[in-house]
Amino acid sequence: MAAKLAISGGKKTVPDGFIQPWPQVTQSDRDAIAEVIASEKITEQQRVQSEGLANEWADYMGVEYCIPVNSGTAALHLCVAGVGIEPGDEVIIPAFTFWATAAAVLHHNAIPVFVDIDPVTYCIDPSAIAAKITERTRAILPVHIHGMPADMDPILEIAKKHNLKVIEDVAQAHGARYKGKLCGAFGDAAGYSTQASKTLSSGCQGGLFTTNDEQIHKRAALLQYFGEIVVPGQEREEQEYNAYGLGWMYRGDMFSQALIRSQLKRLDANNGLRVENCQYLTKHLSKLDGIETPVTPEGCEPVYYNYVVGFDPAALGLDISPRTMREKVQAALRAEGVPTGQWQRLPVPSQEIFQNQIGYGTGCPWRCNNSTVEYKTEDYPQAVEFIDSHCYIFDVNPPNDSELMSYYVEAFHKVMDQLGAVLEVPETA
Ligand SMILES: Cc1ncc(COP(=O)(O)O)c(C=O)c1O
Repeated sequence: MAAKLAISGGKKTVPDGFIQPWPQVTQSDRDAIAEVIASEKITEQQRVQSEGLANEWADYMGVEYCIPVNSGTAALHLCVAGVGIEPGDEVIIPAFTFWATAAAVLHHNAIPVFVDIDPVTYCIDPSAIAAKITERTRAILPVHIHGMPADMDPILEIAKKHNLKVIEDVAQAHGARYKGKLCGAFGDAAGYSTQASKTLSSGCQGGLFTTNDEQIHKRAALLQYFGEIVVPGQEREEQEYNAYGLGWMYRGDMFSQALIRSQLKRLDANNGLRVENCQYLTKHLSKLDGIETPVTPEGCEPVYYNYVVGFDPAALGLDISPRTMREKVQAALRAEGVPTGQWQRLPVPSQEIFQNQIGYGTGCPWRCNNSTVEYKTEDYPQAVEFIDSHCYIFDVNPPNDSELMSYYVEAFHKVMDQLGAVLEVPETA
């Protein structure tokens, strides 16, 4: 007889307290932060940690320049500013991402233009980009979503043909590779988040900006510190106090930078474990009818910032929507102790800010640039379908390993083997 479902009062599959949180903090991480606070001249640590992180991340990425900043959104904004986007310019981005990708464009009074996603990678669909290019388009901003590389070759080709800049959003994909090369090393500039949940984590907020272009770096370096020229470590003696352009205060903080530097030493090993965990899930969950597991296109090496599964009731001959199946199965999985949830609830262009074109003051950047850009949910069917039919399985991070993953698989089997009963559980259970 099948084991009683936890949602119906049975024993849960994943034991309480079994899941380990992310990020893992080791003694060497603690020592790295302790060294900052123990420093005799703590104000010097701002330069020491920032320069150290800039050099180490540029080295890791194999790029010329890196600027550590206080968020991924700030890093992306520096990319937008750095490549020379002007007010009213259009920047092409995927309809499915965290909205900060679009916010970085709006912060510069430029206009996000959304493109639907590829149904396999969930990244921007390169074949849908050309139709969105107008005489105002200046850049394409692909996002390596869930740690899966966007299909960079056709994106770079379209950009070259139309003389567009390419900015990469690598907030979720530190260490992911496309055709052997690290994500973030393809475009004119890249922004990475080191916010707590990310694969390279500061435990709080943070971001990294990179480029190979001297001019882009120069502009970004100026704008990240009020638009002023500073000689690091010589602020008191050398600072001109003369703003060369509208800048912001985007500097990162030394404690989180010390932690990131320490975590960076384990990035590849940690990514390796994430990949193992997720490949284990795919191997086992792909055998379940009605469950869709991630597909990795040839040449892509994802790092699985998130693990997603899809629901296909039609494959089981069920006359219910994928969303209904997802919600019912998720409720049962949660009761079994599997941490599952949703991330984005709407395509970005369907969010209020775009529906109402709020922006700055009286509706800039749209109204002050006579923009005719429209945001209609029906233009992004793949993004809508992805959101309806997929959920996230959390805590695939190290130090969790195949032992936890095997509990997840066991819970999936238990729930899917009793799907009839699961679908009958009322909403409130
Ligand atoms: C795809 C994507 N872009 C941008 C960001 C913004 O990064 P941050 O939260 O560090 O500003 C995030 C972070 O959550 C993200 O997931």
